Amino acid sequence: MIAGRIAAVALMIAGAAAGATAAEPLPSGTSYLSEGLRTQQLDEAANPGMLWVGEGARLWELPQGPAGRSCTSCHGAAADAMRGVATRYPAVDAPSGDLLNLEGRINRCRTRHQEAEAFAYESDELLGLTAFVARQSLGMPVRVETGGAAAPHYDAGRAFFHRRQGQLNLSCAHCHVDNAGRPLRGDTISHGLANGYPAYRLEWQALGSLHRRLRSCSFGVRAVQHGYGSPQYLALELYLAARAEGVPVEAPAIRR
Ligand code: HEC
Ligand code: HEC
Repeated sequence: MIAGRIAAVALMIAGAAAGATAAEPLPSGTSYLSEGLRTQQLDEAANPGMLWVGEGARLWELPQGPAGRSCTSCHGAAADAMRGVATRYPAVDAPSGDLLNLEGRINRCRTRHQEAEAFAYESDELLGLTAFVARQSLGMPVRVETGGAAAPHYDAGRAFFHRRQGQLNLSCAHCHVDNAGRPLRGDTISHGLANGYPAYRLEWQALGSLHRRLRSCSFGVRAVQHGYGSPQYLALELYLAARAEGVPVEAPAIRR
């Protein structure tokens, strides 16, 4: 009798799970842009971020290091080899156990496989290659690994996102969850996703990395600005990517 009731409850739970639909992806930051900027972002001839993509395409073919290897030497055409790659980053690099975002992965290939020097974070070279690689996933949904070796990074990123910080004592979630869609200083607060990065920001008059954007948000609440490529921002980047599950890659996006 009791066993029968438990079985019935188990069936109900199983039924509810099967009937549940996957959560809708959050709206991309692009949906809060003016019509004009959205059109400009979509038009490859008018999107200023495409200048960096062009530079990345040139660097992809450039022989580097003692063996004179280019990215093409090992990977072949980027349109095939890099298709969908950006949707999976940040990811843990198995040999080292390090969490790498796209910038970190590209620099790892520079040092490990080309025996060349790493590019400086925020250099036009690294922004260009990152935008070029990300562009090969245009329109493809973000889907990062958050379990296994990535789990501790994901947990750290989630904790960071929900922790109050700075003189204003606000967490990322206070703005990007509780107040998403509301105006703030002439902007509309988005869900704080990273699917458009590297992005061309009008305020910068340049392409910039996600970590540059995160430094602006940290500064905005008068909190510590972590370094480019720091473990704190990498973990946060992984959490942002997990929140963006199903949202299409749009790099290089245009932002205000
Ligand atoms: C000597 C060969 C070699 C060269 C040159 C090379 N790579 Fe790689 N790349 C690899 C290997 C091997 C991997 C797999 C991960 C590893 O073992 O480091 C990889 C992985 C990657 C990945 C991740 C792919 C994925 O599916 O996760 C990216 C992105 C990448 N390379 C970009 C580049 C770029 C950009 C350049 C040029 C600056 C470059 N690589 C140069 C060998 C190379
Ligand atoms: C006081 C409110 C506020 C706080 C707190 C805040 N941000 Fe932002 N953030 C903004 C505004 C305003 C923008 C620019 C408009 C937009 O895209 O949301 C922005 C932009 C962003 C973007 C770019 C989104 C896009 O599509 O271009 C990301 C990512 C982001 N924030 C992440 C964070 C993270 C992570 C934290 C916590 C460390 C944080 N923000 C804290 C207000 C805030």
